[in-house]
Amino acid sequence: MNSTLFDYAPLLAEGVPAPAVKWAGFPKYNFTGGNNDADQVPVEGLVAAADAVLRREGRTLATYGLASGPQGYRPLREFLARKLERDAGIRCTFDDIVLVSGSLQALDLVNGALLARGDTVIIERDTYQGALTRLARLGVNAVGIPLDEGGMRTDALAAALADLKSRNIRPKYIYTIPTVQNPTGTILNETRRAELLRLARHYGVPVFEDDCYADLVWNGSRPPALYAMSEHGGVIHIGSFSKSIAPALRVGFIVAGWDILSRILALKIDAGSGALEQMVLAEYCHAHFTEHVPKLRRGLRIKLETLMEALNEQFGTAAEFSDPPGGIFLWVKLPDSVDTLKLYQVALAAGVAINPGGEWSTDLAHGKSRMRLCFASPSQAQIREGISLLAEICRKQFGVPARTANIDYRPLAQNI
Ligand SMILES: Cc1ncc(COP(=O)(O)O)c(C=O)c1O
Repeated sequence: MNSTLFDYAPLLAEGVPAPAVKWAGFPKYNFTGGNNDADQVPVEGLVAAADAVLRREGRTLATYGLASGPQGYRPLREFLARKLERDAGIRCTFDDIVLVSGSLQALDLVNGALLARGDTVIIERDTYQGALTRLARLGVNAVGIPLDEGGMRTDALAAALADLKSRNIRPKYIYTIPTVQNPTGTILNETRRAELLRLARHYGVPVFEDDCYADLVWNGSRPPALYAMSEHGGVIHIGSFSKSIAPALRVGFIVAGWDILSRILALKIDAGSGALEQMVLAEYCHAHFTEHVPKLRRGLRIKLETLMEALNEQFGTAAEFSDPPGGIFLWVKLPDSVDTLKLYQVALAAGVAINPGGEWSTDLAHGKSRMRLCFASPSQAQIREGISLLAEICRKQFGVPARTANIDYRPLAQNI
């Protein structure tokens, strides 16, 4: 049957997004997305875990929700409760956790419980594109708070909250990625965490803490979660196995008090997230998580160093960035004359994919000459070759970097 014969256009629901673009395979040099390192997926461990858990409990697949109910596979929630206390200082039980289909579903569910068209939320100025696009689609006004090396600036947050209050606007939440922020890689220190919580309480605004990169701090030590530090509740914490194990598994989680968790759970009407993934993860993580993650981090750190070296060599001072304390991204500032949206288009045609900064910021002008590079999935050779090609394209399009790989392209007369 040829579906192009039927005209769906007049029937489409109002506000339906633009059509999706057909996937055409990965570009040769892919610095986009939150992908992980293929060589670091613990394949053998996952195979053994799948075999063991299916033989032992496979019959429970006969019922929706296994034998664990709508909040998700209980052994995985028990693992998480232990892990969150050990690593993030969060004291909770398996009962305070709902497993979801990636933390993207957590974003949808929390938004579903709290947001309506015309609402206002507070968000870091440079932030996760998946959060921004959701807010735009919902017709929610996102107030961006600038960041510095220490994460969200709480002085700017205080000013924004006061300004909104003066206009009788109570934001629905403060969304933050405090531990290895996407895209800036910053970590909000404990003093600022306390100040953020104080402000949130003072203005009666809940905090929406997205902690999906928290396992990827190079030195393995992170400040306590906002959820753990809050003495008055009012924090919804979400996390994911995408960055620590593998994103294609689509397993994330929400931690919150039952007052709000019960409202969120009532919106999860998909009869449960993929059970097999939850079972395999629980089996694998119980025995191997604590040895797997430091190995993953070491590999990522090596790739980051390769990327920073390649940028220094190929772009010189034209590429500004800070060495991030963890994660999978580098947030790079190019000279003001570079429009990374244009660079993205030309580079993609040449096989190099980057994330243009404008898509990762509430402030288009601020993001315009910035780009986000994911260093986790390309190999070290691809990182070197891809950055060399990107510099060449950038020089041809924008005249920067004037110097690429020790070859000066300015006319000799200017060469002083
Ligand atoms: C800050 C942040 N939150 C949420 C997600 C969604 O992750 P997942 O749905 O794979 O758990 C990502 C993915 O890159 C992210 O960067």
